[in-house]
Amino acid sequence: MAKVIAVLGSTGTQGGGLCRAILADKSGGFSCRAITRDPSKDKAKELAAAGAEVVAGNLDDVESLKKAFAGAYGVYAVTNFWESFSGQKEKDQAKNVAEAAKAAGVQHVIWSTLEDTRKWVPLSDDRMPTLQGKYKVPHFDGKGEADHFFRDLGVPTTFLLTAFYWDNFIYFGAGPQRGPDGQLALVYPMDEKRLPGMAAEDIGKCAYGIFKRGKELIGKTVAIAGEHLTGEQMASKMSRAVGKEIRYTNVPPEVYRTFGFPGADDLGNMFQFKRDFNDYFVGVRDIAFARTLNPELQSLDQWLGRHKDQIPLP
Ligand SMILES: NC(=O)c1ccc[n+]([C@@H]2O[C@H](COP(=O)([O-])OP(=O)(O)OC[C@H]3O[C@@H](n4cnc5c(N)ncnc54)[C@H](OP(=O)(O)O)[C@@H]3O)[C@@H](O)[C@H]2O)c1
Repeated sequence: MAKVIAVLGSTGTQGGGLCRAILADKSGGFSCRAITRDPSKDKAKELAAAGAEVVAGNLDDVESLKKAFAGAYGVYAVTNFWESFSGQKEKDQAKNVAEAAKAAGVQHVIWSTLEDTRKWVPLSDDRMPTLQGKYKVPHFDGKGEADHFFRDLGVPTTFLLTAFYWDNFIYFGAGPQRGPDGQLALVYPMDEKRLPGMAAEDIGKCAYGIFKRGKELIGKTVAIAGEHLTGEQMASKMSRAVGKEIRYTNVPPEVYRTFGFPGADDLGNMFQFKRDFNDYFVGVRDIAFARTLNPELQSLDQWLGRHKDQIPLP
């Protein structure tokens, strides 16, 4: 009997990648139970057509999660900060996952977490503003703070620290901007520091590799990336791929925070954290280890080869 992996976020990027990895490996010994709030949506139907069991579940409703996890060996847990922009909501959702996994007797949870940056930048540190009254980087801090729900309940958990998706160049408004000088540029507040990044599809493949390791990574925090690249390096690779000159423009985080799009303050603080604690942030995100989990791990050049035509150039 295949071991069932119940996948949250199955209709999205991280969970979708894991579902595709499980479904592509017919003899791998695992089956995919795709959880969504709406099993009638197209992405859920695509998963069902590819062989997934699609079930309803809502991160805000612990009873629905208990039902969705029943009989599952594993759970992949990801929350979507960008739907609510609320660190508190993410913590509540993670608590629901931990409680439901405990109640269902799940043997291995992977919790897609991020650093609680307040361990490096306490709220009293005024190098960056405090947001939502109690966070420095809300979409990191709520996830990191929520780690304790899994530990406190003794849920067998692997804590997975992910990296910046290169797909943000396409879908998240992080692609090249045209400056007042008419030049295309990637605009980040990272100075000359390296940004760990990866193909979003590789996160699910790495998660699948973690499940395939059995108990080895339970109780551990593991961190992955595809490459660690400076803004200059990313811009030059993108220039070559799209055949147009794209520069890297460094801006101070104070300026980035004022860019005005929803979450600009959160992302400005996030980049500043990655810049100011770069040795830690890059050092922990282990490319060689990620490749052992997922031998198909992509470089930025490989990702660009597949996706360059999707990058919007204003
Ligand atoms: N962008 C980056 O570079 C990056 C890097 C590292 C980490 N992250 C983190 O990744 C997270 C988002 O993951 P993603 O990119 O995979 O998301 P995504 O592609 O935007 O998809 C969101 C998924 O979450 C599910 N979902 C949302 N609310 C739910 C709820 N209440 N109950 C059940 N399912 C719910 C959605 O399912 P249905 O709508 O079908 O229910 C959907 O499958 C964010 O929290 C972000 O901080 C992003």
